[in-house]
Amino acid sequence: MTDTLTIPRPDDWHLHLRDGDMLKGVVAHTAEHFARAIIMPNLVPPVVTGADAAAYRDRILAALPASMTFEPLMTLYLTEATEADDVAQAHASGLVKAVKLYPAGATTNSQSGVSNFDNVQGVLERMAEIGLPLCVHGEVTDADIDIFDREAVFIDRVLDPLRKRVPGLRVVMEHVTTADAVAYVQTDTSGNLAATITTHHLIINRNHILAGGIRPHYYCLPVAKREKHRLALRAAACAGDERFFLGTDSAPHTDAAKLLPCGCAGIFTAPNTMSCLAHVFEEDGALARLEGFASRNGPAFYRLPVNSEEMRLTRQSEPVRYPELVETGAGNVTVFDPGFDLFWRVGP
Ligand code: DOR
Ligand code: ZN
Repeated sequence: MTDTLTIPRPDDWHLHLRDGDMLKGVVAHTAEHFARAIIMPNLVPPVVTGADAAAYRDRILAALPASMTFEPLMTLYLTEATEADDVAQAHASGLVKAVKLYPAGATTNSQSGVSNFDNVQGVLERMAEIGLPLCVHGEVTDADIDIFDREAVFIDRVLDPLRKRVPGLRVVMEHVTTADAVAYVQTDTSGNLAATITTHHLIINRNHILAGGIRPHYYCLPVAKREKHRLALRAAACAGDERFFLGTDSAPHTDAAKLLPCGCAGIFTAPNTMSCLAHVFEEDGALARLEGFASRNGPAFYRLPVNSEEMRLTRQSEPVRYPELVETGAGNVTVFDPGFDLFWRVGP
C-alpha cells in the first residue's frame, strides 16, 4: 500500500476568510497547507470594487503570521451596479482573478447579488473579452423551487441561457452538488466551463445532516444532496478530468451562529481538508489523481503556474488528530468531522 504521496503544493479555488477577528483566527489554517486561494467577497458590506479588493487583500496579508507565505487571489462581488471598467482595471493590475455571481438571496450575505441579469450583461461581455472567469453560486432562489432542486433548475433557467448570451465567458460552477451539474460540465465542448467540488460534498449526503437528529455543522449551501449525487461528485473528482478541481468552500461561522433555531450555512474544512481528500481518493483507488484535483487543474483553468513547492502526505498507522474546534477572537469554530478516522498526515 502506498504510504507517502508528494504533490505540488495545493491551492483552494473557493475559500471564505471573513474579516477582523475571524480572519485572524482562520487564515493560518489555510496558509499552512495551501499556497493560494480564491477569496470569496461576501463580506458585509461586500467586496465590490477594485479598491475594496485591494484593501481586503492587505487585511488578509496583515492577518497572516509572519512565518507564512500565502497568496490571496481576490474576487469581486458582482452587483447590478458593477462597472466594467473597474473590473477590467482590477484584472489588468493582477489583483483580481475572478468575479463572483451570487443570485440575490441565495446564501450568506448575498442580498447585494444579481436579480436582473440584463443589468450585468455589459460587465459579463467585458469579462469574456479579457478572459476573466465568472465564479457562479449556482442556485435559483425562488421560494417555489425545492431547495434540493435549486442547483439543477439554475443550470436550465439561468446558467445555460446566460452562457449563450455571453459566448466566450469563462465560468466556474462553484461547489457543485449534483449529478446534473457534473453532467453539464462533462458534456460541455466550449472549453470555457469548469467546476469546483468541496471536500465535504465528497463525504456527506443529506442523511448526515438530517437522519437521527439535525446536525447544523453539516449544513451548508448548496445543501448536500442524496447519495447518488455524492457518488457522481466522487466519480468526477477522481476521474482525472481537468475541468474539476478543489474549492473547499471552507466557510467559518462561530458555533454561536451555527447552533441557532435559524443557523448559518457553512462548513469549516480548512484544517483537515487535505487529510480528508487523501482518504477519499485512496478509498476510490485514485490517490495518483489527487495531484490533478488539488494542485494542477485549478491553475490550468485560471491560467496560473502550478506551485513549485511541494506537499508531502504520509499515511500513518494511528489516526491523525485534528482539533474539534478552532478558537478565534470572534468565537469558537467547529472543524468538519468527516465521520471516520483520518490516517493521512500533511508534513515531512
Ligand atoms: O455554506 C455556505 N456558506 N455556502 C455559501 O454559499 C456561503 C458560505 C458562507 O459564506 O458562509
Ligand atoms: Zn462559498
